[in-house]
Amino acid sequence: MTTLTTDNVAAWRADTPGCAHRNHLNNAGAALMPRPVIDAITDHVRLESEIGGYEAADLRADEVWRGYDHLAEMVGAQARNIAVVANATAGFVQALSSFDFKPGDVIVTTRCDYTSNQIQYLALSTRLGVEIVHADDLPEGGVDPDSVRAIVRDRQPRLVAVSWIPTNSGLVQDVESVGLVCEEAGVPYIVDACQAVGQISIDVTRLRCDYLSATARKFMRGPRGIGFLYASDRALERGDHPLFVDMRGARWVIARAYEVAHTARRYEDWEFPYALVLGQAAAARYALDVGVEAARSRGWGLAGRLRAALGTIPGIRVLDRGKTRCAIVTMTADGRHADTIVKALKERRINTVSSLREFGIYDFDAKGIETAVRLSPHYYNTEAEVDEAVGAVRELTGG
Ligand SMILES: Cc1ncc(COP(=O)(O)O)c(C=O)c1O
Repeated sequence: MTTLTTDNVAAWRADTPGCAHRNHLNNAGAALMPRPVIDAITDHVRLESEIGGYEAADLRADEVWRGYDHLAEMVGAQARNIAVVANATAGFVQALSSFDFKPGDVIVTTRCDYTSNQIQYLALSTRLGVEIVHADDLPEGGVDPDSVRAIVRDRQPRLVAVSWIPTNSGLVQDVESVGLVCEEAGVPYIVDACQAVGQISIDVTRLRCDYLSATARKFMRGPRGIGFLYASDRALERGDHPLFVDMRGARWVIARAYEVAHTARRYEDWEFPYALVLGQAAAARYALDVGVEAARSRGWGLAGRLRAALGTIPGIRVLDRGKTRCAIVTMTADGRHADTIVKALKERRINTVSSLREFGIYDFDAKGIETAVRLSPHYYNTEAEVDEAVGAVRELTGG
């Protein structure tokens, strides 16, 4: 594990052109890319323009394959378990579509699962008659694994799905304990690790999940428009494959039959944005070289500093709940729509984002709010940047 020093922080900032222009506290949206990621993308686009897209992919085939090893290392898996997909939602949907749901089937999920996932569960409910059951939360926030255990025992669900870190707060859900429940009961389990990857060390054997979906652009510091899906050996051996598997994931072997790929490639699309694929691989390599645990420790330290200071400003309410709180900090200011604060911060070159009730209805209603400001530092941010944001919020809200 790397021990972070001031020199490390300076080096990482020198690697990150965006640091010169912005106080970027929107890593949960899309982090600033470091130079090796930018170079991997731009070099490949240049190569495609010079020799042709298919020819460039052939020339870079070894690097593309090495990328699977880096992504696998990010989650403690093997390259055969990794599918490169368009984004976390696309990966999640590919996994979800591997189950042939019937009317009356039950999916167990949490009150803090990601917005799009909740919409997709509702679509399955409306179109296929699947029943969606939300497990109870613990008093301090986050899913209660005992509630999942009771539902699994009583309802024998087809699937359990949990967002590790929701999009709209600093909560970290106890995905390991839920994994234990699922494994004991033999129920398939999907973890949405979109906000976790690059922020928390991931070991899929500890999570005991069948699938894990992730994106490049957030705490892994990759480009937008690319992500990956981990599919366990258990899922691959079961013959799981997406409903709309294409000619990359399967071969049309005889007129009336197809054969799916042996590996997680079965979840991929034929058309691949190779520049982004290489950018994502470079981001994974960079994150591994920094050390995800060291990055977590520093990022969470900065978030703790932010929460503590915001909490002293009159009229500001810090909203994050749960026993474990991550690098996502959410706050609300009395009587102010989050958009007005985000806009005013942006004018000062401080990047944050608004979170709206429709991003997390259960969570927002429980907190009695309509909007929140989300600030998400990462290891390459500085204490001074955090303090600058706090000072700006204090000034803007008259605190
Ligand atoms: C918890 C969580 N899951 C999934 C997603 C979706 O990721 P993507 O936009 O890459 O599909 C997000 C995006 O913010 C998220 O926060």
